[in-house]
Amino acid sequence: LIPVITIDGPSASGKGTLASALAARLGYQFLDSGALYRITALLALGRGVPHDHEAGLVALARQLGHEIPLRFEGEHVWLDGADVSAELRQEEVGQTASKISALPGVRQALVEQQVAFRRLPGLVADGRDMGTVIFPDAGLKVFLTASVAERAERRHKQLISKGFSVTLDEICSDLEARDARDKQRTASPMVPAADARLLDNSHLSIDESVELVLGWWTD
Ligand code: CDP
Repeated sequence: LIPVITIDGPSASGKGTLASALAARLGYQFLDSGALYRITALLALGRGVPHDHEAGLVALARQLGHEIPLRFEGEHVWLDGADVSAELRQEEVGQTASKISALPGVRQALVEQQVAFRRLPGLVADGRDMGTVIFPDAGLKVFLTASVAERAERRHKQLISKGFSVTLDEICSDLEARDARDKQRTASPMVPAADARLLDNSHLSIDESVELVLGWWTD
């Protein structure tokens, strides 16, 4: 069976950075499952599908990678022929993604796209429910956390470096709202898998986190 490492955890805990670094070190595929929710959100915003219109959103999600071409290429995401990587990071897109990810039909419609990333020689999958729902048989499951203050700081730096203007306070309240939605949704709430290793990286550098998890993997 093709090996899988799952990295789950809240917004801005550094999952994407850790997961993509691990994938690069191991030569594995990388799945940013949040991007699939953001892509569905971007399509919905562009086509005027309201964030509570489950049937409309499900129809869009099902077309992803089929009627609507989708390609991941390193840091870039090509959707319907356009590079949408920058748009996907927009606040409005993230907020809409957070709302539509609460709808069970949308989550179900995106399962197939996520499972398709399991290709040789292996996969590192980043998200909220990678270890609990999408890849319950993963060989290593990590649940990554960091304090809200630390996560807000990191997200702030990331957004400022990309030219967005936003305050630390705005980010803190947004993170708290997102955490609440992630934990409270009834469809696949964000909880650590029973067999996940918990990693609080508040005081670890990226390299330290990567080495630690590589050590767990080769154990
Ligand atoms: O890190 P951030 O929360 O800003 O964004 P993300 O990881 O790109 O995920 C976008 C949204 O999709 C989040 O609000 C999550 O609630 C949701 N999501 C999810 O429900 N399940 C996943 N496996 C990944 C993301």
